Amino acid sequence: MEMNRKEIISLVIRMTLMSTCAYFGTKWLLGQIDPTSQQKKKSKQTALSKLKSLGLEQVKNLTDHELMIASHLVNPYDITVSWNNIAGLSQVIDEIKETVIFPVQRKELLRHSVLTKPPKGVLLHGPPGCGKTMIAKATAREAGMNFLYLDVSLLTDKWYGESQKLAGAVFSLAQKLQPCIIFIDEIDSFLRSRTQNDHEATAMMKAQFMMLWDGLSTDPECTVIVMGATNRPRDLDPAILRRMPATFQISLPDEQQRKEILNLVLSSEEFEDDVDLHNLAIETSGFSGSDLQEMCRIASLLRIKDLIKAEELQRRPEVIRAQMQSRFVGECSSDQSNPNLLRPISMDDLVASVAKMKASKVVTTTQSRF
Ligand SMILES: Nc1ncnc2c1ncn2[C@@H]1O[C@H](COP(=O)(O)OP(=O)(O)OP(=O)(O)O)[C@@H](O)[C@H]1O
Ligand SMILES: [Mg+2]
Repeated sequence: MEMNRKEIISLVIRMTLMSTCAYFGTKWLLGQIDPTSQQKKKSKQTALSKLKSLGLEQVKNLTDHELMIASHLVNPYDITVSWNNIAGLSQVIDEIKETVIFPVQRKELLRHSVLTKPPKGVLLHGPPGCGKTMIAKATAREAGMNFLYLDVSLLTDKWYGESQKLAGAVFSLAQKLQPCIIFIDEIDSFLRSRTQNDHEATAMMKAQFMMLWDGLSTDPECTVIVMGATNRPRDLDPAILRRMPATFQISLPDEQQRKEILNLVLSSEEFEDDVDLHNLAIETSGFSGSDLQEMCRIASLLRIKDLIKAEELQRRPEVIRAQMQSRFVGECSSDQSNPNLLRPISMDDLVASVAKMKASKVVTTTQSRF
């Protein structure tokens, strides 16, 4: 029996409705099953507000993966670390200015020279706490480049297939946002030497990462720099090392550098005239920049101990009585030291702090293994 026209139309409408319901139902279900859906939504919001704050709203048509990566963007003008906050590394800083920053900022001037193009890869290596991350941040700030702080777990903790899409998004986004630095801290944990024990997905991602990286060189106008920091350069894949021709060693500071770091760290504090930075620099052999910062922090806290003691003393009944009496007889108390003021840091504080740090063996002793 043949269907009449009405029946055909109603069948088509029913089928259309059913397929629409099935489409949206499956989409909703997938959203519910995907444990990262909430995270994706959040990243998307963060990414959009960051792009807006960077004045990059015109960068449109970003994929979900690119938006996830964009949530890790850092506005160079929000970076608080500048060259002035880094002491004792003027030689490295000068080299970075010449090889990375100048070619980026004066691109027009160097347009006709292939050899003076900014490097596609920069490696900072050396023991922990010596200023690698600081240098990377200051480079982005000084060069005015967008800074993509790549959290390695973002790429490695994902479902099968997702990591590759995200790795691809890192490069495609960086190209859309250029000039841009892709910064990978602890790069060894991500791009260590490939072994036969590597998971298939990890091996594929590493290979893809290198391929995308090479892709940067095909466009001579592209200003995207992959900057990595590590304290285990020997663990890095040789193929990665080859892609990072600009290599800077940030070693433990020597005596002169320690003196410069101490000078900088203490410059914002009040300290006694007896503080001898030269002697302290000698006494702190083997300390990293971060150890020196921590040493000064401990020394500064010793003053608080004294302040609390002085305040407790002030609250004793006999002291209160004596104060009231002296006020009564009109004695001038201005010659008494004010217990409410933090006293300047003394050499004794610093020496005690050095001894404490040495005793607790927290001082970095790792030498660069490059
Ligand atoms: N050269 C320096 N001048 C001033 N401060 C420094 C210097 N080096 C290190 N510091 C201090 O140490 C802290 C840590 O530095 P940073 O994070 O750059 O070290 P890192 O080399 O990246 O260490 P890690 O290998 O552990 O990541 C800084 O926040 C700063 O307070
Ligand atoms: Mg670091």
